[in-house]
Amino acid sequence: MAVDELIGQLKALEAEGLDAVRAGGDAAALEALRIEYLGRKGRLTGILRRLGELSAEERPAVGAEANRVKEALNVLLEEREAGFAGAADQGPRIDLTLPGRRRWEGGVHPVTLVIDEICDIFRDLGFSRVAGPEVETVDYNFSKLNTPLDHPAADMHDTFYLADGVVLRTHTSPAQAHVMENFQPPVRVVVPGMVYRRDPFDASHAPGFAQLEGLAVDEGITFADFKATIGEFVRRFFGADAKTRFRPSFFPFTEPSAEVDVSCRICKGAGCSACKQTGWMEIMGSGMVHPNVFEAVGYDPEKYTGYAFGMGPGRIAMQRYGLPDIRLLYESDMRFLKQFA
Ligand code: PHE
Repeated sequence: MAVDELIGQLKALEAEGLDAVRAGGDAAALEALRIEYLGRKGRLTGILRRLGELSAEERPAVGAEANRVKEALNVLLEEREAGFAGAADQGPRIDLTLPGRRRWEGGVHPVTLVIDEICDIFRDLGFSRVAGPEVETVDYNFSKLNTPLDHPAADMHDTFYLADGVVLRTHTSPAQAHVMENFQPPVRVVVPGMVYRRDPFDASHAPGFAQLEGLAVDEGITFADFKATIGEFVRRFFGADAKTRFRPSFFPFTEPSAEVDVSCRICKGAGCSACKQTGWMEIMGSGMVHPNVFEAVGYDPEKYTGYAFGMGPGRIAMQRYGLPDIRLLYESDMRFLKQFA
């Protein structure tokens, strides 16, 4: 009778245990049920303690039944536990209490802002915006621009040579030659871009910086056209009260040559530390295109005349935004750059 009684108890334990496991609400509840039913001091062990009351022949049947019940409970426990673990794995693990990640916001580089504004003004004055290569031959960077290779500008100390006869352009002027070789007059272009010189990287020098070339060629263009065009540009860019001054200068590829100054925007010409007490800021080199340059690109110097200029948008950006150090423009520091829109 003891055999039947024990087997009955085991079956009752199984039914009760299976119901309890099915009702177990989470992983912790299931673990508690595993301990209650199958643990070392659990209810199944409690029943099996009575195996001692049975004869050796009776024990195997009860033992087999105990194993079956244990297995049935184990299977269901594992199934339910896996269900909870699966549920916990579903979906991203998001802590909704964390502060959000701020979206990265770009800005337009201050030099690009200045270049775009300059090009917009020259577009209104009839100039197209074009680009030229940053890697040039010495032919384009110097020779076609009436600059012999023994000129100091062509010296290894000033120029990055990439290979024999191949350089990083030291100015945007070689774009003049490319434009004239590819288009017949009338030509009116502005060419913004980076140029490279073997300069130190300090508060007022950078080994790479922006330039903006201008070129106008046609029949009958005079220095008066240049003065009028630049005067108009200066008033539009710097303001109606900005004055323009032309100073004689020298460049191998222009004759005559001039440097153009604008009345200091900070002191309005009175003299301050920004303009070194002169009341003027230099904004470009310029001049009438040298006849030798026309010869070099296949234009008839008897028929055509023109003017060219090269300005520094980086320097203009420094003045406009009151920047004390040119390195701010070329170091890609996001804390600085994202202030511009
Ligand atoms: N290329 C000259 C420079 O880099 C500037 C310039 C351009 C002068 C065009 C005259 C005409 O300094």
